[in-house]
Amino acid sequence: MKVWRSILAGAFNCWFSRMKEKIWKGIRQSEAISDEIDCLRRIVPLLSGQKEAVRQYLEEIETAQEIRERVEYYVEHYGYLPFSWSWHQRFHGKQFSRVLFLYLLLRLIRPENVIETGCFSGWTSTLILYALHRNEKGHLWTIDLPAQAGRFSMDASLPQELTPGFLVPDMLRPRWTLIIGDTREHLPPLLHRLENIDVFYHDSDHTYEHMMWEYTTVWPYLRQGGILISDDIGANTAFWDFAVAMGCPMAIPAVNPNFGAISKMGEMYIQKGPEMSNIVSVSP
Ligand SMILES: C[S@@+](CC[C@H](N)C(=O)[O-])C[C@H]1O[C@@H](n2cnc3c(N)ncnc32)[C@H](O)[C@@H]1O
Repeated sequence: MKVWRSILAGAFNCWFSRMKEKIWKGIRQSEAISDEIDCLRRIVPLLSGQKEAVRQYLEEIETAQEIRERVEYYVEHYGYLPFSWSWHQRFHGKQFSRVLFLYLLLRLIRPENVIETGCFSGWTSTLILYALHRNEKGHLWTIDLPAQAGRFSMDASLPQELTPGFLVPDMLRPRWTLIIGDTREHLPPLLHRLENIDVFYHDSDHTYEHMMWEYTTVWPYLRQGGILISDDIGANTAFWDFAVAMGCPMAIPAVNPNFGAISKMGEMYIQKGPEMSNIVSVSP
């Protein structure tokens, strides 16, 4: 009888500590999510009241089977490459900020023209393109020089048999133009041709000089209410110097202070989507 009692007590303790861990994890994750969503509110003020849309948008990307299968295939075969996070990791912790800024944000603001610098595997291109696909509008231009170890602070080269953006599924490619080359050469003529853009995402060379050059080159072409997003803002003070100089609202996610966004002040448009409010303007 004693033996049974101690087996049962052991099993109960084990179950109880697992449950406790699960509950804590859940609380921490939902705290992280609400912190991050709160931080987005600074650049998308009308996020309030979009709780159901936010939940739906986050669910649709996490359950995107075609993207998941492609990611899992490449993680299995090329897991030694940088940025080879598992599907789960891409939606938790630090990586969650990419989903929020590059998927959720783009679903909410429904941009027309988006430019990204730095592609590599194309995870962030995939997030952006899936948002445009679900929005049924918009185009992404990505400029990338295939990664080479030792160049632009990359510590790995893109394997010869792969092309930049290998993670991007075929169904998302019609809304995508991938430009192979240096952003110094290709960004100015692209901006000139597009005349204005809604979202810019920097993830190429993270030196102060280059980051500042990209931000200042893009800014005049970013429409009022447009958003500049940047990775690696902790690499130097370029993002901070630029944001302070522009005096615009800034968002830095709590779980990943290496990621940031600035919204160009003025009218913030949130266009009518399935559950969105009509075009609304917000004074800065
Ligand atoms: C950090 S990786 C991009 C990762 C990608 N955004 C993601 O998270 O899925 C940086 C990429 O930018 C490229 N790159 C760096 N400096 C560049 C430049 N001046 N012009 C074009 N591409 C550049 C690198 O070769 C590399 O492919």
